[in-house]
Amino acid sequence: MIETPRLIRLSFIEEDLSAVQGFACGNEPWAVYLAQWITNTAPDEKNVIEHLRDGTKVWLYLTGQGDIVGYGSLGITTWKYPEPLGSEKATIAVIPAVAVSSAFQSQPPGDWRQRYSTEILSDLIATATQDHLTGRFPDPVLGLFVDARNGRAKKLYTRVGFTDYGKPFKRDGYYDQRMRIKLDVSAIANSGQSTTGEP
Ligand SMILES: CC(C)(COP(=O)(O)OP(=O)(O)OC[C@H]1O[C@@H](n2cnc3c(N)ncnc32)[C@H](O)[C@@H]1OP(=O)(O)O)[C@@H](O)C(=O)NCCC(=O)NCCS
Repeated sequence: MIETPRLIRLSFIEEDLSAVQGFACGNEPWAVYLAQWITNTAPDEKNVIEHLRDGTKVWLYLTGQGDIVGYGSLGITTWKYPEPLGSEKATIAVIPAVAVSSAFQSQPPGDWRQRYSTEILSDLIATATQDHLTGRFPDPVLGLFVDARNGRAKKLYTRVGFTDYGKPFKRDGYYDQRMRIKLDVSAIANSGQSTTGEP
């Protein structure tokens, strides 16, 4: 989708917490939570540091000038997943948290395929595919949860190839929708790398 990556991807480590303290991605409840997640400040929730300690990979995406455009993450989870894999349970990749900073949402203007949001999602899909190929998890699926009210994120996920998996289910008084994409192993087996540069 993105022909020339523009963002620089950096692995997030505990020492980067101070650099993200100003991160903001909106005022809706889910957006506030996603900002708290990366700043490790969400009360009573599993935040970035606990995820890192559990083996989740987290990246910051930066412009060439060093501005933080957003972040993404990849973990491993087990879903009850009878289709299309044919097993009762599947061990798949999951995106625990992803966000684009308010200043970079819907940017650059124009074709959605060239947006930063698309670049970050495409990179997470490509990285999950590579991780599957190198044996990090066995079943070629990437899943995520999205607040059913979060139309903006749902539009982005659908555009890059995710589809709903099951019906929305109630969590703490609101509804979450599970979405997933089947990883296209053949597409990346030949091309090799993630879509975004990591020094
Ligand atoms: C979700 C997020 C990553 C998407 O990035 P983005 O740069 O804002 O997304 P894009 O602009 O590329 O695409 C969103 C599309 O949804 C549209 N949209 C906005 N609000 C919408 C709504 N309520 N319902 C449906 N579509 C909506 C936008 O207009 C845009 O479509 P367009 O290109 O036709 O104009 C970003 O908004 C974000 O970080 N939000 C807060 C954190 C969050 O929700 N993270 C995801 C958690 S699951």
